[in-house]
Amino acid sequence: MRQLLITSALPYANGHIHIGHLVEYLQTDIWVRFQKMRGNRAVYVCADDTHGTAIMIRARAEGRSEEALIAEMSEAHQRDFAGFGIEFDHYGSTHSEANRAVCHEIWAALRKADMIVEEEIDQLFDIEQGTFLADRFVRGTCPRCGSKDQPGDNCGNCGATYGPIDLVDPVSTLSGSRPEIRAAKHLFVRIEKMHDFLAEWTQSGTIPTESANYLKNFFLNEPLRDWDVSRPAPYFGFEIPDSPGNYWYVWFDAPIGYIGATAEWCEGQGEKLDDWWKSEKTEIHHFIGKDIQYFHTLFWPAELETAGFSLPTQVHIHGFLTVDGEKMSKSRGTFIRASKYLEHLDPEYLRYYYATKLSSKVEDLDLNLEEFVARVNSDLVGKVVNLASRSAKFVAETGLSSSYPEDGGLFARFAERGEEIASAYENGDYGKAMRMIMELADQANPYVEEKAPWELRKDPAKSGELQDACTVALNLFRSLVIYLAPVLPALAKKAGELFGEPLTSWEQTRTPLTGRPVAKFSHMMQRVEPAKVEAMITESREEGEAEAASTPAGKAWHDSGEALAANPIAPQITIEDFLKVDLRVARVVAADEVPEARKLVRLTLGLGGGETRQVFAGIKAAYEPADLVGRLVVMVANLAPREMKFGTSEGMIVAAGPGGKDIFLLGPDDGALPGQRVG
Ligand code: 2FM
Ligand code: ZN
Repeated sequence: MRQLLITSALPYANGHIHIGHLVEYLQTDIWVRFQKMRGNRAVYVCADDTHGTAIMIRARAEGRSEEALIAEMSEAHQRDFAGFGIEFDHYGSTHSEANRAVCHEIWAALRKADMIVEEEIDQLFDIEQGTFLADRFVRGTCPRCGSKDQPGDNCGNCGATYGPIDLVDPVSTLSGSRPEIRAAKHLFVRIEKMHDFLAEWTQSGTIPTESANYLKNFFLNEPLRDWDVSRPAPYFGFEIPDSPGNYWYVWFDAPIGYIGATAEWCEGQGEKLDDWWKSEKTEIHHFIGKDIQYFHTLFWPAELETAGFSLPTQVHIHGFLTVDGEKMSKSRGTFIRASKYLEHLDPEYLRYYYATKLSSKVEDLDLNLEEFVARVNSDLVGKVVNLASRSAKFVAETGLSSSYPEDGGLFARFAERGEEIASAYENGDYGKAMRMIMELADQANPYVEEKAPWELRKDPAKSGELQDACTVALNLFRSLVIYLAPVLPALAKKAGELFGEPLTSWEQTRTPLTGRPVAKFSHMMQRVEPAKVEAMITESREEGEAEAASTPAGKAWHDSGEALAANPIAPQITIEDFLKVDLRVARVVAADEVPEARKLVRLTLGLGGGETRQVFAGIKAAYEPADLVGRLVVMVANLAPREMKFGTSEGMIVAAGPGGKDIFLLGPDDGALPGQRVG
């Protein structure tokens, strides 16, 4: 029996759970339930991630304490999770004494290993609010182009990047006052000290290959930068014991919350924390999204290793959710809260649909609403539940046949597939597991069609045949439901009630049930009604619009600091340096694949008046060439031409993002003309 500790990322306490979050919690819950059904000991812990400026500011705005705010959020999160059948063994909070104790322990170890360094940095301070200001809480005049009301990190007009202290006439969005520059001491973790360890650990098969390669190419081939883990008061968090007035940055104590939550669970169970976090006996599995992988694959293992805790056995990384091919959007009504979904639809629909879409790859996942309805109706209602609804009622009085009838080897074939289905679950290939289960359902249904119990029942002489046919159909149904139970716990519960025996183990698919009563059949799952999906979208859109109208600009953003932490701002340059780069608006007039090159697209960029440039761009994984034709992009027009195997590249197009599929081309707003200078 394996002993497994399983976690999902800790959700922030400043927002509600939505269907994007649910990809991860459902993915994890399915894995946990699967492990339990295989006879393993699996403990699933999670907690609310509660610290940081965003919580502090929000609590102030709402006129209550941070503690009151996070308590209410935690309750709402747990209600939503429970509504979707997500079953934690323990759900804690990063704002707990258990977590504080582990933070102290890890901090002491980092100090002892001489991994903490101090540095003074200048920051804007809002005197009225009495707080240092993160970039997103400052606006002012762009130091380069003079454009007013620009954010604290980069100019929306000319694209310049800068720090908030560079803004001319800065204004705090919290108070409207003019902040002053104050120097403050920050504490940094010197991750570079663990470079060799991380280089090896990240390539050891613990994280998906895509992520491992990415880290190898972009991070581990140069020194890792120090990680700023402190924030000066006031800050909602834990004060650093040996640095009064400084608090741990929220991302320092968030992952430690995995251990804090385990400690609380241990306390309640009479278990020892060391058996779970400092023992080879326990496998540790983290489930996270691709946006927070550096925190989990660089900072986190470096700390664990330094402090003598176990390292994750596996970090399971998933992609993002899109709805009908686009990012979730409040104005389209596709930013759907978990609670809103539950007002309209059965959670098992979404559990199943996500399962059909999940694989072990770090891939985005699309919720196509039409397909969602069709899939659930045809697979679950049409193929699975239908087996029971067409047979159970005919044996309500007689029960199942006393010995298992001849079924042409169907039941045995179902049992044989068990290990293959299990290994798909184990590897996170739920889509494959669902396909295999539906293939089995496709074998069971023709059996029922052929036997036609509804015909047999008309002839009293065929009552034995009827009982046998229903015994087979119900046993096949039962095996299917056992295989689906990690995904569909509510269906499994109802099916267990039908047979008078809960469906809790894979092993149960090996022996058919015979000679026992069958409970009265009651509806197990309704068809999805498209009108309910529409109502959910409409209400989400209306609520999204109302919220947008009432949220003061600048207060609702809670962008992750991941991208900036991974790639801090480059050394300062002068405006003259910048002006050397001639950026131009250009139109993509042609875009072709370069068959010999895996990553490249050949672009012909028009600068107006028939002037064109050829550029080879490494964006094939992110864009279909045909989709690019006609759009406006920004190009570096005065870059020295470069001879390549396939021709000359006469410039570059400007894009953001780490690479691969995550490349985002920059484009000007409507009205810009090809040939116009950008800057
Ligand atoms: O990205 C987020 O939503 C974070 N609250 C996740 C934290 S995961 C872990 F490190 F705590
Ligand atoms: Zn500007």
